[in-house]
Formats: sequence, structure tokens, C-alpha cells
Amino acid sequence: MVDEIVAALVPKSEGVYVDATLGGGGHTRGLLEAGAGRMITLDMDGEALAHAGQNLASFVERLSLHHSNFRDLQRVLDEEEIEQIDGAVFDLGLSWHQVRSQERGFSYQGEGALDMRFDASSDARSALEIIRSEPAKKIERILREYGEEPRSRQIARAITEHKRSIKTTKDLADLLHGIAGPKGFRKTAMRVFQALRIAVNEELQNLEAGLDAACRRLAHGGRVAVLAYHSLEDRIVKNRYRDAERTEKFSRVNRKPIFASDEEVKQNPAARSARLRVLERT
Ligand SMILES: C[S@@+](CC[C@H](N)C(=O)[O-])C[C@H]1O[C@@H](n2cnc3c(N)ncnc32)[C@H](O)[C@@H]1O
Repeated sequence: MVDEIVAALVPKSEGVYVDATLGGGGHTRGLLEAGAGRMITLDMDGEALAHAGQNLASFVERLSLHHSNFRDLQRVLDEEEIEQIDGAVFDLGLSWHQVRSQERGFSYQGEGALDMRFDASSDARSALEIIRSEPAKKIERILREYGEEPRSRQIARAITEHKRSIKTTKDLADLLHGIAGPKGFRKTAMRVFQALRIAVNEELQNLEAGLDAACRRLAHGGRVAVLAYHSLEDRIVKNRYRDAERTEKFSRVNRKPIFASDEEVKQNPAARSARLRVLERT
């Protein structure tokens, strides 16, 4: 949704903008091409950062790259000696490149280590470590709260019972297939993998902290644009915007979320679930 992000942030040549989730660099490129003066970009994934950095080499004078979690946005801006920003974009979740890299463990298709860390170089716990170290009750809560999985108890029990024999994404997928059957498998696997990924990366806590940081450093007239892909993320964004409007000097640019165009969904089916919400500092 590059066009929608450019339209939301209205980049100016004297403005400073943050891409909190650089990924493949599509949004940053769009904003730079539309005239953004300076882009401060972050990603937890060092590989993504290196790759996008190469692709964006022609913009080097207007671009800085930070291997950082967006919850630390204020520290990054301090390092750059930037007090206020004119816009920030958060494109949540994971990139296509990460999904397709089987060894990263994000996908229930194929086989890879049950890792799921956005930052593979960090000492954060992998999905396998969580499965092996947490009691069934905790795993049940992760599946219920982060995956809205109706069979969270049954699945959590089965996972803890078999935790020594689960090593790869395929081992976990096979176990889920046994519980959900061929008809229910895909949706169950999507929910369970999403839940574990959110827990591994503390995604919802990061989102709250990252949004707070962006709102604190936003200049008057500056905007924050968030692309959320599931209701848990979207709820956090909606509530944060509503509170900002009530208690601080902010206003929501769009009351209803903006969705991807039919054309974009045709080319990129994952865009179907994207919901864009924009907040402006008044
Ligand atoms: C959906 S992709 C972004 C795609 C990007 N907008 C593009 O145009 O290619 C999300 C990216 O955010 C990164 N990410 C997720 N959570 C993060 C966090 N808390 N801090 C920094 N980066 C994060 C992931 O590693 C991934 O590369």
C-alpha cells in the first residue's frame, strides 16, 4: 500500500520521516521518491536491513538504517539528534521474504527450525524454547490471546506432551494436522503459528511502545500511519488513537480503516487483511 502511505504522510523536502519497519524498503522508496527530505529507518531483522540498504543505495544521503526494535524509537532519534519527526509508518508483522525463508520458522508449510525471531541475532527465546520451557497453561494462554484459537487447551496439552519430539515447523504442523484434521488444519496452523510468533517477538507490547514513542516525537501537523494485519494489532492502534484524541492534541485522519485496492489484492493477496489508520498531531 505504498500509494496509500505516501498519500497519508504527504512527504515534504524539509521533513524527517520514520519507517519503523523497513522490510524490503518499498515504503521508504515510495516516500523518498515522493520527496521526503530524510528517512530514518528501522528493522529488527539485520538481513532485511542489509538487503534493503543495498537496494536503496542511490538515496544514501537522505537515508539512515538502524538495526533496532521500534520500541526503542526515541533512543534512535536521540542518536540521530532529531527532536521531532513529520511522519512515521509502521507496517506490522512479517515480510514475504521472512515467510518464504523456511529456515526462519515462520511458515507452517515446508520444514525449518521453530525459530520465529525477527532478530535472529538476538538472545530472545525462539518458538521452540518457549514450547519446551513453558507449562501447558502458559502455552494455552498464548494460543488463546494471540491466536484466538478455539482449541487452545487441547493443542497446548498436546504440544507440552510431545515437546521433546517437536523440533521443526513440520513436526508442529503434523501435530496440528492430527488435531484439526485436513479440513481445519490450515486455519488452525495459521492461528497457532501467528500466536507463537507474536509471543516470541513480543509484538503487541512493542506496538504499544512504538506508537507511544512516535506520538511523543511527532511535530505539529505530523502523521503516524499504521498498517495492521489482524484484529489484535488493529485494536491496539484504534484504542491508542482514540485515547490520543481524547487526552492529547491529536485527531484521526480517517475514522474507518483504509483497505488495499482490488488491484493490489490481486497482485498481493496478503494485502487483503491490511487495515491502514492514520493519526495527525494538531
Ligand atoms: C510487513 S514487513 C515491512 C515491509 C515493508 N514495508 C516493505 O515495504 O517492504 C514488516 C517488517 O517489520 C519488521 N519488524 C517487525 N516488528 C518490528 C519491531 N518491533 N521493530 C522493528 N522492526 C520490526 C520485520 O522484521 C519485517 O521486516
